[in-house]
Amino acid sequence: MFLGLFLAFFLICNVLSLSAQEYSNTSTTCPEYFNCRNFKGLGFPFFSFNLPGCGLCMLDCEANPSPKIALDSQPEHWFDVIYIGDSVVKLHDPILQSHLDNQRCESFSYNIHPRPSPAISYSILNNITLYRCFITPESHPMITDLFSGYKNYNKCDYLRYTVYYQNSSTLPFNGTIPSVCSAFTLPIVSAYYSCSDSELFELLTSEFDLEWHVSDECYNCHDQGHMCRTNWWEKSGCANVKQGI
Ligand SMILES: *[C@@H]1O[C@H](CO)[C@@H](O)[C@H](O)[C@H]1NC(C)=O
Ligand SMILES: *[C@@H]1O[C@H](CO)[C@@H](O)[C@H](O)[C@H]1NC(C)=O
Ligand SMILES: *[C@@H]1O[C@H](CO)[C@@H](O)[C@H](O)[C@H]1NC(C)=O
Ligand SMILES: *[C@@H]1O[C@H](CO)[C@@H](O)[C@H](O)[C@H]1NC(C)=O
Repeated sequence: MFLGLFLAFFLICNVLSLSAQEYSNTSTTCPEYFNCRNFKGLGFPFFSFNLPGCGLCMLDCEANPSPKIALDSQPEHWFDVIYIGDSVVKLHDPILQSHLDNQRCESFSYNIHPRPSPAISYSILNNITLYRCFITPESHPMITDLFSGYKNYNKCDYLRYTVYYQNSSTLPFNGTIPSVCSAFTLPIVSAYYSCSDSELFELLTSEFDLEWHVSDECYNCHDQGHMCRTNWWEKSGCANVKQGI
């Protein structure tokens, strides 16, 4: 409830700052380091949700069973935090887990990769690119030809699409993806998948390592004691704020 209200407030604030086309300077004092339950001494780009604007990756330290995180570009999508390292976080996505456990076709329309912003971008360390193609009598010969040598998953045929993915010896797809197909990325158990020809659902996982890359511009801003902020999708800004305890 409180979190819901808070998020609504947070989003409204961001929309307002957007329409103003300016990053207003606030009197917020951001802590240089903070603790989040068993994660100690966290700093930028992380921040605790009770200090909005103090970072790019928002932690809910009171969540159970573990703290949760929402990343810059998708403030409404919460992941469980398993581990926080220097440049990598290990996350768990409960919704993806339920899709995978039940081998649901929704797994193939579930977008887990956080959108990059000018302030920060992310990569899923062990991932697989899947090609979801709508199959019609007309597109079928072209698609099967294009993805020859790929493995396919066709238990979503009732939704009229087939999912293609690389097997151990296929090269990454480097042509133009036809308009009836879309490519997307999901986490896999480990880079080991490339040595095995496992079934698709055995490769996919809801627990994954996510590496983050903060832009130089944003780090410079932060190092000068300002607040690096982003309006989520277009640009980042450097607001004047005192860094302190
Ligand atoms: C915020 O502070 C910076 C640096 O002092 C200044 O350049 C900028 O104009 C200020 N922005 C607003 C909206 O007041
Ligand atoms: C997938 O993994 C590759 C190789 O490790 C990496 O370069 C790429 O950024 C990853 N893709 C995503 C969407 O995270
Ligand atoms: C994997 O790809 C290779 C080369 O593209 C192909 O010869 C082989 O039949 C494929 N194996 C499976 C199981 O699809
Ligand atoms: C795809 O890769 C092959 C081999 O690496 C290369 O010869 C070809 O030009 C590439 N095609 C495109 C569209 O990039």
